[in-house]
Amino acid sequence: MPKKSIDRRLPRPRARLLRGVVAGLLLAGLVPLAQAQDAARGRDLYDTHCLGCHYERVHKRDPARSLVRTLPQLRVEVARRAEQTGRRFSAEDVDDIAEYLNRSHYHLAK
Ligand code: HEC
Repeated sequence: MPKKSIDRRLPRPRARLLRGVVAGLLLAGLVPLAQAQDAARGRDLYDTHCLGCHYERVHKRDPARSLVRTLPQLRVEVARRAEQTGRRFSAEDVDDIAEYLNRSHYHLAK
């Protein structure tokens, strides 16, 4: 009986060490992780609220005809369209959608 409880206790320090290592790895990768999540969130918002009016084709049109030439312009267009949907979008929502569209279509320099 005592042997069994010792066996159970033994792996604990190792488990704690492993948790520390995993936490450290997550922390080291925290910034890219957060960015990836923002774009993914932006994509969800876009798919839900924006595709009713236009396909993503509208973002692939000839740059000469595009309303979007710079990153601030992209944000302004997203905010303007967001208003048209009738839903309230937070500044974070608008940023995430702009981030998603920039990654998927516009590729504008920051
Ligand atoms: C009420 C209909 C409608 C909704 C809803 C809508 N859009 Fe649009 N969007 C348009 C139209 C129409 C155009 C093309 C305007 C033009 O050619 O002048 C456009 C163009 C755009 C452009 C510019 C494309 C380019 O490269 O020139 C962006 C960016 C955009 N929409 C983003 C969004 C986002 C983000 C949402 C959701 C928050 C959204 N739109 C929802 C109608 C809509």
